[in-house]
Amino acid sequence: MKVTLKNIGKKYEGREEFTIRNINLEIEDQDFCVILGPSGCGKTTLLRMIAGLNSVTEGDILFDGRRINTVPPKDRDIAMVFQSYALYPHMTVYDNMAFSLSMRKERKKIIDERVREAAESLQITDYLYSKPSDISGGQRQRVALGRAMVRKPKVFLMDEPLSNLDAKLREHMRVELVRLHKSLETTTIYVTHDQTEAMTMASLIVLMNDGVIQQAGKPEEFYNKPANIFVARFIGSPTINIIEGTVKDGKFITPDGILSITPCLEDKECLSSYEGKSISVGIRPERFESGDHHLDKFDCTIDVVEMLGKEKIIYARLDNGQELVISTPGHYNYNDGERHTFGFDISALHFFDNDTGLRIN
Ligand SMILES: Nc1ncnc2c1ncn2[C@@H]1O[C@H](COP(=O)(O)OP(=O)(O)O)[C@@H](O)[C@H]1O
Ligand SMILES: [Mg+2]
Repeated sequence: MKVTLKNIGKKYEGREEFTIRNINLEIEDQDFCVILGPSGCGKTTLLRMIAGLNSVTEGDILFDGRRINTVPPKDRDIAMVFQSYALYPHMTVYDNMAFSLSMRKERKKIIDERVREAAESLQITDYLYSKPSDISGGQRQRVALGRAMVRKPKVFLMDEPLSNLDAKLREHMRVELVRLHKSLETTTIYVTHDQTEAMTMASLIVLMNDGVIQQAGKPEEFYNKPANIFVARFIGSPTINIIEGTVKDGKFITPDGILSITPCLEDKECLSSYEGKSISVGIRPERFESGDHHLDKFDCTIDVVEMLGKEKIIYARLDNGQELVISTPGHYNYNDGERHTFGFDISALHFFDNDTGLRIN
Protein backbone atom coordinates (compact mmCIF):
# COMPACT_ATOMS: atom_id res chain seq x y z
CA MET A 1 0.00 0.00 0.00
CA LYS A 2 1.16 3.52 -0.79
CA VAL A 3 1.25 6.00 2.10
CA THR A 4 1.12 9.72 1.36
CA LEU A 5 1.60 12.51 3.89
CA LYS A 6 0.42 15.96 2.80
CA ASN A 7 1.40 19.04 4.80
CA ILE A 8 1.18 17.11 8.05
CA GLY A 9 1.42 19.12 11.25
CA LYS A 10 0.94 18.09 14.86
CA LYS A 11 0.35 20.30 17.88
CA TYR A 12 -0.16 18.50 21.18
CA GLU A 13 -2.79 19.95 23.45
CA GLY A 14 -1.24 22.24 26.06
CA ARG A 15 1.89 22.80 23.97
CA GLU A 16 2.80 26.17 22.54
CA GLU A 17 4.51 24.93 19.40
CA PHE A 18 3.95 22.38 16.71
CA THR A 19 5.85 19.13 17.34
CA ILE A 20 5.63 18.17 13.66
CA ARG A 21 5.64 20.72 10.87
CA ASN A 22 4.81 20.60 7.20
CA ILE A 23 5.67 16.96 6.48
CA ASN A 24 5.26 15.99 2.83
CA LEU A 25 6.16 12.45 1.90
CA GLU A 26 5.32 9.69 -0.53
CA ILE A 27 6.06 6.17 0.64
CA GLU A 28 5.57 3.83 -2.29
CA ASP A 29 4.02 0.38 -2.08
CA GLN A 30 6.62 -2.13 -0.78
CA ASP A 31 9.00 0.59 0.37
CA PHE A 32 11.05 0.07 3.50
CA CYS A 33 10.91 3.63 4.79
CA VAL A 34 13.07 4.50 7.78
CA ILE A 35 12.19 7.63 9.71
CA LEU A 36 15.47 8.65 11.28
CA GLY A 37 16.41 11.44 13.66
CA PRO A 38 17.66 12.33 17.12
CA SER A 39 15.62 11.63 20.22
CA GLY A 40 12.71 14.03 20.61
CA CYS A 41 12.54 15.11 16.94
CA GLY A 42 9.01 13.75 16.53
CA LYS A 43 9.47 10.31 14.97
CA THR A 44 7.12 8.46 17.31
CA THR A 45 4.58 11.29 17.07
CA LEU A 46 4.53 10.95 13.27
CA LEU A 47 4.33 7.15 13.32
CA ARG A 48 1.45 7.25 15.79
CA MET A 49 -0.37 9.66 13.51
CA ILE A 50 -0.03 7.19 10.65
CA ALA A 51 -1.25 4.44 12.99
CA GLY A 52 -4.24 6.51 14.07
CA LEU A 53 -3.09 6.62 17.70
CA ASN A 54 -2.45 10.40 17.51
CA SER A 55 -4.89 12.87 16.01
CA VAL A 56 -3.82 14.91 12.97
CA THR A 57 -3.72 18.67 13.61
CA GLU A 58 -2.99 19.71 10.03
CA GLY A 59 -2.81 18.07 6.63
CA ASP A 60 -3.89 14.72 5.23
CA ILE A 61 -2.75 11.11 5.47
CA LEU A 62 -3.65 9.01 2.44
CA PHE A 63 -3.54 5.22 2.10
CA ASP A 64 -3.57 4.33 -1.60
CA GLY A 65 -4.97 7.78 -2.29
CA ARG A 66 -7.77 7.52 0.27
CA ARG A 67 -7.84 10.05 3.13
CA ILE A 68 -7.76 8.17 6.43
CA ASN A 69 -7.26 11.00 8.96
CA THR A 70 -10.22 9.98 11.09
CA VAL A 71 -10.34 6.24 10.38
CA PRO A 72 -9.83 4.35 13.67
CA PRO A 73 -6.58 2.33 14.01
CA LYS A 74 -8.28 -1.05 13.79
CA ASP A 75 -9.71 -0.19 10.38
CA ARG A 76 -6.44 1.03 8.88
CA ASP A 77 -5.03 -2.37 7.92
CA ILE A 78 -1.78 -1.69 9.77
CA ALA A 79 0.18 -3.58 12.42
CA MET A 80 2.51 -1.90 14.86
CA VAL A 81 5.62 -3.24 16.59
CA PHE A 82 6.79 -1.34 19.66
CA GLN A 83 10.18 -1.07 21.28
CA SER A 84 8.73 -2.50 24.50
CA TYR A 85 7.26 -5.55 22.64
CA ALA A 86 4.11 -5.14 24.79
CA LEU A 87 3.45 -8.89 25.03
CA TYR A 88 0.81 -10.25 27.40
CA PRO A 89 2.87 -11.92 30.16
CA HIS A 90 0.22 -14.44 31.21
CA MET A 91 -0.30 -15.80 27.69
CA THR A 92 1.83 -18.27 25.76
CA VAL A 93 3.74 -17.15 22.70
CA TYR A 94 1.10 -18.88 20.59
CA ASP A 95 -1.76 -17.02 22.27
CA ASN A 96 0.07 -13.72 22.07
CA MET A 97 0.47 -14.19 18.35
CA ALA A 98 -3.08 -15.43 17.90
CA PHE A 99 -4.68 -12.72 20.02
CA SER A 100 -5.60 -10.12 17.41
CA LEU A 101 -7.02 -12.76 15.06
CA SER A 102 -9.07 -14.32 17.89
CA MET A 103 -10.44 -10.88 18.70
CA ARG A 104 -11.51 -10.60 15.08
CA LYS A 105 -13.21 -13.99 15.50
CA GLU A 106 -11.11 -15.50 12.74
CA ARG A 107 -11.57 -19.29 12.24
CA LYS A 108 -9.35 -21.48 14.50
CA LYS A 109 -7.86 -23.24 11.49
CA ILE A 110 -6.86 -19.99 9.81
CA ILE A 111 -5.39 -18.67 13.07
CA ASP A 112 -3.35 -21.82 13.53
CA GLU A 113 -2.04 -21.66 9.97
CA ARG A 114 -1.05 -18.02 10.27
CA VAL A 115 0.61 -18.40 13.68
CA ARG A 116 2.63 -21.42 12.54
CA GLU A 117 3.61 -19.80 9.27
CA ALA A 118 4.87 -16.67 11.05
CA ALA A 119 6.58 -18.72 13.78
CA GLU A 120 8.31 -20.79 11.12
CA SER A 121 9.70 -17.79 9.26
CA LEU A 122 10.84 -16.20 12.54
CA GLN A 123 12.26 -19.50 13.85
CA ILE A 124 10.28 -19.46 17.07
CA THR A 125 8.21 -22.62 16.53
CA ASP A 126 9.98 -24.31 19.45
CA TYR A 127 8.79 -21.65 21.87
CA LEU A 128 5.14 -21.44 20.88
CA TYR A 129 3.99 -22.85 24.22
CA SER A 130 6.43 -20.88 26.40
CA LYS A 131 5.52 -17.74 28.30
CA PRO A 132 7.27 -14.46 27.39
CA SER A 133 9.13 -14.54 30.73
CA ASP A 134 10.73 -17.88 29.79
CA ILE A 135 12.31 -16.72 26.51
CA SER A 136 15.15 -14.31 25.72
CA GLY A 137 14.81 -10.66 24.69
CA GLY A 138 15.62 -11.53 21.11
CA GLN A 139 12.95 -14.22 21.03
CA ARG A 140 10.41 -11.84 22.56
CA GLN A 141 11.20 -9.37 19.82
CA ARG A 142 10.45 -12.07 17.25
CA VAL A 143 7.14 -12.83 18.94
CA ALA A 144 6.24 -9.15 18.74
CA LEU A 145 7.05 -9.25 15.01
CA GLY A 146 5.11 -12.48 14.59
CA ARG A 147 2.09 -10.95 16.27
CA ALA A 148 2.17 -8.17 13.69
CA MET A 149 2.75 -10.58 10.78
CA VAL A 150 -0.24 -12.87 11.45
CA ARG A 151 -2.56 -9.99 10.73
CA LYS A 152 -1.18 -9.74 7.19
CA PRO A 153 -1.43 -5.95 7.33
CA LYS A 154 -0.98 -3.64 4.36
CA VAL A 155 1.59 -1.58 6.33
CA PHE A 156 3.99 -2.47 9.14
CA LEU A 157 4.73 0.35 11.56
CA MET A 158 7.76 -0.26 13.77
CA ASP A 159 9.01 2.03 16.52
CA GLU A 160 12.65 1.35 17.45
CA PRO A 161 11.95 -2.41 17.56
CA LEU A 162 15.60 -3.39 18.00
CA SER A 163 16.78 -0.88 20.56
CA ASN A 164 16.33 -3.22 23.54
CA LEU A 165 18.60 -5.87 22.00
CA ASP A 166 22.35 -6.11 22.46
CA ALA A 167 24.63 -5.07 19.60
CA LYS A 168 25.23 -8.55 18.12
CA LEU A 169 21.58 -9.49 18.12
CA ARG A 170 20.61 -6.14 16.67
CA GLU A 171 22.99 -6.70 13.77
CA HIS A 172 21.49 -10.14 13.21
CA MET A 173 17.90 -8.90 13.39
CA ARG A 174 18.64 -6.11 10.92
CA VAL A 175 19.43 -8.69 8.27
CA GLU A 176 16.44 -10.81 9.28
CA LEU A 177 14.10 -7.85 8.96
CA VAL A 178 15.43 -7.09 5.49
CA ARG A 179 14.91 -10.74 4.49
CA LEU A 180 11.44 -10.71 5.95
CA HIS A 181 10.59 -7.56 4.06
CA LYS A 182 11.91 -9.08 0.81
CA SER A 183 9.67 -12.10 1.22
CA LEU A 184 6.52 -10.36 2.53
CA GLU A 185 6.87 -7.24 0.35
CA THR A 186 4.72 -5.28 2.79
CA THR A 187 5.18 -1.51 2.98
CA THR A 188 7.13 -0.85 6.17
CA ILE A 189 7.62 2.39 8.09
CA TYR A 190 10.36 1.98 10.63
CA VAL A 191 11.41 4.54 13.23
CA THR A 192 14.94 4.66 14.63
CA HIS A 193 17.60 7.07 15.90
CA ASP A 194 20.30 4.69 14.63
CA GLN A 195 21.92 5.75 11.35
CA THR A 196 23.29 2.26 10.74
CA GLU A 197 19.82 0.72 10.85
CA ALA A 198 18.63 3.38 8.42
CA MET A 199 21.54 2.99 6.01
CA THR A 200 21.40 -0.82 5.98
CA MET A 201 17.66 -1.45 5.84
CA ALA A 202 15.94 1.46 4.13
CA SER A 203 14.88 1.83 0.53
CA LEU A 204 13.84 5.35 1.57
CA ILE A 205 15.35 7.31 4.47
CA VAL A 206 13.54 10.30 5.94
CA LEU A 207 15.82 12.23 8.25
CA MET A 208 14.01 14.56 10.65
CA ASN A 209 15.17 17.21 13.09
CA ASP A 210 12.99 19.32 15.29
CA GLY A 211 9.76 18.16 13.66
CA VAL A 212 10.88 18.95 10.11
CA ILE A 213 12.20 16.72 7.30
CA GLN A 214 15.85 17.54 6.58
CA GLN A 215 16.26 15.16 3.64
CA ALA A 216 14.38 12.24 2.12
CA GLY A 217 15.91 9.82 -0.34
CA LYS A 218 18.01 6.72 -0.91
CA PRO A 219 20.73 5.83 1.63
CA GLU A 220 23.60 6.61 -0.77
CA GLU A 221 22.22 10.10 -1.41
CA PHE A 222 22.59 10.87 2.28
CA TYR A 223 26.22 9.86 2.26
CA ASN A 224 27.18 11.36 -1.09
CA LYS A 225 25.00 14.45 -1.22
CA PRO A 226 23.89 15.53 2.25
CA ALA A 227 21.36 18.36 1.84
CA ASN A 228 22.70 20.43 4.73
CA ILE A 229 25.25 20.45 7.56
CA PHE A 230 22.87 18.68 9.96
CA VAL A 231 22.43 15.76 7.55
CA ALA A 232 26.16 15.63 6.82
CA ARG A 233 26.90 15.37 10.53
CA PHE A 234 24.13 12.87 11.27
CA ILE A 235 25.10 10.29 8.64
CA GLY A 236 28.58 8.75 8.66
CA SER A 237 30.79 7.43 11.41
CA PRO A 238 33.11 8.89 12.58
CA THR A 239 31.37 12.23 12.02
CA ILE A 240 32.28 14.30 8.97
CA ASN A 241 34.84 17.12 9.47
CA ILE A 242 33.32 20.57 8.97
CA ILE A 243 35.75 23.45 8.54
CA GLU A 244 34.66 27.09 8.35
CA GLY A 245 36.19 29.58 5.98
CA THR A 246 35.47 32.04 3.19
CA VAL A 247 35.61 32.08 -0.59
CA LYS A 248 38.49 34.18 -1.87
CA ASP A 249 39.45 34.37 -5.56
CA GLY A 250 37.38 31.25 -6.13
CA LYS A 251 39.23 29.29 -3.45
CA PHE A 252 38.12 28.09 -0.04
CA ILE A 253 40.37 29.53 2.65
CA THR A 254 40.34 29.37 6.46
CA PRO A 255 40.47 32.74 8.31
CA ASP A 256 44.17 32.26 9.17
CA GLY A 257 45.01 31.04 5.69
CA ILE A 258 46.45 27.76 6.94
CA LEU A 259 44.13 25.67 4.82
CA SER A 260 43.46 26.72 1.25
CA ILE A 261 41.54 24.52 -1.15
CA THR A 262 41.08 24.93 -4.86
CA PRO A 263 37.71 23.39 -5.70
CA CYS A 264 37.19 21.29 -8.82
CA LEU A 265 35.80 23.13 -11.84
CA GLU A 266 32.23 22.11 -11.21
CA ASP A 267 32.32 23.25 -7.57
CA LYS A 268 34.09 26.42 -8.60
CA GLU A 269 31.10 27.39 -10.69
CA CYS A 270 28.74 26.78 -7.74
CA LEU A 271 31.00 28.82 -5.47
CA SER A 272 31.28 31.80 -7.80
CA SER A 273 28.30 33.56 -6.23
CA TYR A 274 29.82 33.06 -2.77
CA GLU A 275 32.91 35.22 -3.32
CA GLY A 276 33.78 36.90 0.02
CA LYS A 277 31.08 34.97 1.88
CA SER A 278 31.38 32.61 4.82
CA ILE A 279 31.03 28.94 3.89
CA SER A 280 32.04 25.55 5.30
CA VAL A 281 33.72 22.60 3.72
CA GLY A 282 32.97 19.03 4.79
CA ILE A 283 35.40 16.13 4.41
CA ARG A 284 34.55 12.63 5.59
CA PRO A 285 37.23 11.04 7.80
CA GLU A 286 37.69 8.14 5.38
CA ARG A 287 38.46 10.44 2.45
CA PHE A 288 41.84 11.56 3.79
CA GLU A 289 44.91 9.82 2.50
CA SER A 290 48.37 9.64 3.94
CA GLY A 291 51.31 11.21 2.12
CA ASP A 292 51.85 14.26 -0.03
CA HIS A 293 51.00 13.05 -3.54
CA HIS A 294 47.78 15.08 -3.47
CA LEU A 295 47.56 18.66 -4.67
CA ASP A 296 45.54 19.56 -1.59
CA LYS A 297 47.41 18.55 1.52
CA PHE A 298 48.19 19.73 5.03
CA ASP A 299 50.48 18.97 7.98
CA CYS A 300 49.02 18.07 11.32
CA THR A 301 49.94 16.73 14.73
CA ILE A 302 48.38 13.50 15.92
CA ASP A 303 46.75 13.77 19.36
CA VAL A 304 45.13 10.38 19.83
CA VAL A 305 44.99 7.14 17.82
CA GLU A 306 42.08 4.74 18.33
CA MET A 307 42.65 1.18 17.10
CA LEU A 308 39.34 -0.41 16.05
CA GLY A 309 40.74 -3.42 14.20
CA LYS A 310 39.92 -2.86 10.55
CA GLU A 311 40.45 0.90 10.92
CA LYS A 312 42.39 3.37 13.01
CA ILE A 313 40.72 6.63 13.96
CA ILE A 314 43.18 9.49 14.22
CA TYR A 315 42.36 12.64 16.15
CA ALA A 316 44.69 15.28 14.74
CA ARG A 317 45.20 19.01 14.89
CA LEU A 318 46.20 21.56 12.27
CA ASP A 319 48.68 24.27 13.31
CA ASN A 320 45.78 26.69 13.83
CA GLY A 321 44.23 24.34 16.39
CA GLN A 322 41.52 23.06 14.01
CA GLU A 323 40.71 19.49 15.03
CA LEU A 324 40.34 16.82 12.38
CA VAL A 325 39.18 13.22 12.53
CA ILE A 326 40.86 10.90 10.04
CA SER A 327 40.07 7.26 9.43
CA THR A 328 42.83 5.02 8.01
CA PRO A 329 43.22 1.27 7.49
CA GLY A 330 44.00 -0.55 10.75
CA HIS A 331 47.39 -1.83 9.65
CA TYR A 332 48.82 1.64 9.02
CA ASN A 333 51.24 2.83 11.67
CA TYR A 334 50.54 6.10 13.50
CA ASN A 335 51.57 7.26 16.95
CA ASP A 336 50.48 10.00 19.32
CA GLY A 337 52.48 13.20 19.01
CA GLU A 338 53.78 12.51 15.49
CA ARG A 339 53.62 15.00 12.62
CA HIS A 340 52.04 13.77 9.41
CA THR A 341 51.01 15.01 6.00
CA PHE A 342 47.55 14.08 4.76
CA GLY A 343 45.90 14.91 1.49
CA PHE A 344 42.51 14.52 -0.10
CA ASP A 345 40.95 14.43 -3.49
CA ILE A 346 38.92 17.52 -4.30
CA SER A 347 36.05 15.29 -5.41
CA ALA A 348 35.63 14.40 -1.71
CA LEU A 349 34.54 17.88 -0.67
CA HIS A 350 31.09 19.06 0.35
CA PHE A 351 30.45 22.81 0.52
CA PHE A 352 27.79 24.43 2.70
CA ASP A 353 26.37 27.94 3.03
CA ASN A 354 27.06 29.08 6.61
CA ASP A 355 23.97 31.30 6.77
CA THR A 356 21.46 28.59 5.83
CA GLY A 357 23.48 25.43 6.45
CA LEU A 358 22.39 24.26 2.99
CA ARG A 359 24.58 22.36 0.55
CA ILE A 360 26.14 24.48 -2.19
CA ASN A 361 27.60 22.03 -4.69
N1 LIG B 1 1.45 13.03 24.39
C1 LIG B 1 2.27 14.09 24.31
N2 LIG B 1 1.90 15.30 24.76
C2 LIG B 1 2.72 16.37 24.67
N3 LIG B 1 3.95 16.34 24.12
C3 LIG B 1 4.38 15.15 23.66
C4 LIG B 1 3.58 13.97 23.73
N4 LIG B 1 4.28 12.94 23.18
C5 LIG B 1 5.45 13.45 22.80
N5 LIG B 1 5.53 14.76 23.08
C6 LIG B 1 6.66 15.67 22.78
O1 LIG B 1 6.83 15.72 21.38
C7 LIG B 1 8.21 15.79 21.05
C8 LIG B 1 8.57 14.65 20.11
O2 LIG B 1 8.45 13.43 20.79
P1 LIG B 1 8.55 12.02 20.08
O3 LIG B 1 7.61 12.00 18.92
O4 LIG B 1 8.37 10.97 21.11
O5 LIG B 1 10.05 12.04 19.55
P2 LIG B 1 11.02 10.84 19.11
O6 LIG B 1 10.20 9.61 18.91
O7 LIG B 1 11.66 11.33 17.85
O8 LIG B 1 12.03 10.68 20.20
C9 LIG B 1 8.98 15.74 22.37
O9 LIG B 1 9.32 17.05 22.72
C10 LIG B 1 7.97 15.16 23.32
O10 LIG B 1 8.19 15.63 24.64
MG1 LIG C 1 10.34 7.72 19.84
